Amino acid sequence: MSELALHGGPQAVEELEIPPWPQVNDQDRENVLDALDSGVWCRSSGNAEWVERFEDQWADYHDAEHAIAVANGTIAIEVALRMCDVRPGDEVLVPPYTFIATASAVTSIGAVPRFVDVDPETHNVDPESVAEQVTDKTVGLVGVHIGGYPMNFDELLPVVEEHDLFLIEDAAHAQGSEWRGEKVGTIGDVGTFSFQQTKALSGGEGGIVVTDDEILAERGHLLHNIGRVSGKAYRHYELASNARMTEFQGALLCSQLERLEAQNEKRRENEAILREELESIDGISAKPEDDRITARGYCIFELQYDSSSFEGLSRDDFREALSAEGVPSGTGYTYPMYDQPTFSRESVEALVPDDADVPAYRSLHLPGVEQVTERVISFSHPMLLVEEADIRAIADAFRKIQRNVDELI
Ligand SMILES: Cc1ncc(COP(=O)(O)O)c(C=O)c1O
Repeated sequence: MSELALHGGPQAVEELEIPPWPQVNDQDRENVLDALDSGVWCRSSGNAEWVERFEDQWADYHDAEHAIAVANGTIAIEVALRMCDVRPGDEVLVPPYTFIATASAVTSIGAVPRFVDVDPETHNVDPESVAEQVTDKTVGLVGVHIGGYPMNFDELLPVVEEHDLFLIEDAAHAQGSEWRGEKVGTIGDVGTFSFQQTKALSGGEGGIVVTDDEILAERGHLLHNIGRVSGKAYRHYELASNARMTEFQGALLCSQLERLEAQNEKRRENEAILREELESIDGISAKPEDDRITARGYCIFELQYDSSSFEGLSRDDFREALSAEGVPSGTGYTYPMYDQPTFSRESVEALVPDDADVPAYRSLHLPGVEQVTERVISFSHPMLLVEEADIRAIADAFRKIQRNVDELI
């Protein structure tokens, strides 16, 4: 009889108990009810306090001077781009391995995304590619800490400085990640976060912008609040949208934040165990260990699968066998962004000034992102909250498939 669960054998992981996400406790209920019963649901009415309290807590947690809470992580990037004075027709560098919002925020303000390749090991922006893609219209870079794994600032910052670019850190995945002891999001000019439901810190929806720069922060406050200064209801100083966070989100995020570090600590312990277990499995690789990453935050947890160590078994067939063993997985962002139906030269030209220089996205081929999208196997962060025995059983599932790969090809 076969050992593989796919062929009727016993599962390597029986009933993997991945905790449901998001998690709710009494403090969450109390906070949300407090906001509800206060009758103050909008931060700009009466004596609102929850959103401001969350901003203060997030700024403290990051040792940042300013935090401006907004409705979601997409609008956070749009606000950040406008804080950095991006104008229609300007070019902004973005990685092609990320959620679409990193690039669509650029087109929503009439600017042109130009894709830079990613490092095939870290899945983050490759600094060399940044230097190669800069043109005389390039004003900045929106880099992403994919899966919560920090970008390599030691290599990136000199390139950004040399070309006089702004750096926005899209830290949507990186609540709690640190580079050399500093929380990510505070190292570039502006950092943005998402608190959408699947994130490690969630308010259902939500986002925030952080910066240490007083002038940028002042502009951010105006831009997130249809151009007005708080307290001056009908006086507007910028043409801008309403990106405000509700008091309910602020209240929920305050209580959720109290648990973030303990949850991240558990994820870190489990990641270390999983890494150690996977080290001996040829063809499965985790992102490099790096002493400069002094703390990890998480969103998706990514590995790479090399089919040549599994006698050519395709990634999808491997994942099917893994799922039968009781381990659900995904394929990360699956497509280079320039292969998304929405990224044609024509569709972007329709959104930007006539004289903008729009790349022929469809003919792009960037080797780093193409390797990553072909090889990634991803897990959602709640998987790193399971018991240690389950983490070890997950690694057993990988080993079992490799041992029996002949049956699958
Ligand atoms: C890397 C990245 N940037 C931006 C966003 C946008 O955040 P939101 O969904 O809160 O608008 C997401 C959302 O998943 C994301 O993963």
